Amino acid sequence: MPKAVRRTFVLVTTPVALLGAAAPSPTGSSGVGDPYFPLSGNGGYHVGHYDLTLRYDPGSGHLDGKAVLTARATQRLGRFDLDFKGLTVTGLTVDHTKAGFRRDGQELVVTPKRALGKGERFTVTVTYQGKPGPVTDPDGSPDGWIPTDDGAFVAGEPQGAMTWFPSNSHPTDKSSYDFTITVPKGHTAVANGVLLSERTAHAKTTFRWRQSEPMAAYLATATVGKFTVQQYTTRDGIRVYNAVDSREAAAAAPVLKKLPSVLEWEAKLFGPYPFRAAGSIVDHAPNVGYALETQSRPVYDRAPDLSTLVHENAHQWFGDSVSLTSWKDIWLNEGFATYTEWLYAEQHGGDSAQKTFDDLYAKPASDGLWEFPPGDPGSGANIFGTPVYARGAMALHVLRTTVGDPAFFRILRAWAAEHRDGHGTTAQFERLAERVSGKKLDSLFQTWVYAPGKPNRP
Ligand code: ARG
Ligand code: ZN
Repeated sequence: MPKAVRRTFVLVTTPVALLGAAAPSPTGSSGVGDPYFPLSGNGGYHVGHYDLTLRYDPGSGHLDGKAVLTARATQRLGRFDLDFKGLTVTGLTVDHTKAGFRRDGQELVVTPKRALGKGERFTVTVTYQGKPGPVTDPDGSPDGWIPTDDGAFVAGEPQGAMTWFPSNSHPTDKSSYDFTITVPKGHTAVANGVLLSERTAHAKTTFRWRQSEPMAAYLATATVGKFTVQQYTTRDGIRVYNAVDSREAAAAAPVLKKLPSVLEWEAKLFGPYPFRAAGSIVDHAPNVGYALETQSRPVYDRAPDLSTLVHENAHQWFGDSVSLTSWKDIWLNEGFATYTEWLYAEQHGGDSAQKTFDDLYAKPASDGLWEFPPGDPGSGANIFGTPVYARGAMALHVLRTTVGDPAFFRILRAWAAEHRDGHGTTAQFERLAERVSGKKLDSLFQTWVYAPGKPNRP
């Protein structure tokens, strides 16, 4: 059975995790065992809260940072890792006592003066500075802190968080965040969640942001630019903050105007919007090449079209509130957000989802669309490939036509509600879909989610 094969694969490629399970060692592992990004995240602790204080000078590209992590040990810990790459660490304490540390690639290896007991709460404070820059993902995209001509475009999927703050950088660990970001007056620093305050003194402005619902590190942002800001509260009480680069303002305006109606429409389909804040960061960063569903406030590298706005906001339910446990399951994010675009078109005078499906299905078996199955992309280089987005959406469409509209939308709402602020796996989604629809769906999932090649017509 393919599922068993996949599980074996994970164990074989993570001997460290295996050893750790057999004989608990006082060293936290350097990764959480994700086969696509083996060094992402770390073993041995969970971060409850990040308090990040940043000062950024867009002129020189210099960043001064202080990160205070409030964490809990999940095993006895004589040593543990954080994910942090590039910037210079100038100080590190655990529970306010100087700790030993060394750098090893993306791992910041911390040795507290005294070992932490299992279940013990602790605080890690890291001060750091330097000139941050992006990492290059396996698909060739820049990821992390990406300097622009007037600030920085900051997005971290899947691994860029480590370029600007030390973290447990895997979606399995979700935390609340506070951000205090100081930039030269005239610049705006936009992070996740609610804006608590904005103060200008001595030609500098400090923005304080709070993301209270749990968030994966890759969804954090601290985007800096010269932005025009618009703030309002929706009928549902959601605090909206839009920041727009003036070069994108004309193209962005008609699309951003639709944000409240898009969020209401998505809430009608998927259940209540999961966060207290929403909005958009529309930057002018033409060489980034993508938008990201940064939590509560997607970041766009240019003025988005309506479909992109619908897509990134659909991720607030699927990807942000309900997080991945493994990057291999990425279709749970991208297939769902793409299918939301199809549904939006269908319900707003565009093509029906069936028509979109049929047009895709017409592509020959040799087309890139069928290159790998959405539920098993094979490597980190493929997680943002067409099969994940388009064939992932096709899998949902087949599910919909198999169980019927009422059951299908009940499934989506149950998925968002039962895993809200948490995690999900493809196997859990399949079980939930079977439970809600009362149908056996293993052959459907096998064919449309897991099996390579172009499936037979459903
Ligand atoms: N999740 C983003 C979206 O589909 C795409 C992020 C692409 N990131 C990358 N490093 N290639 O909206
Ligand atoms: Zn997406």
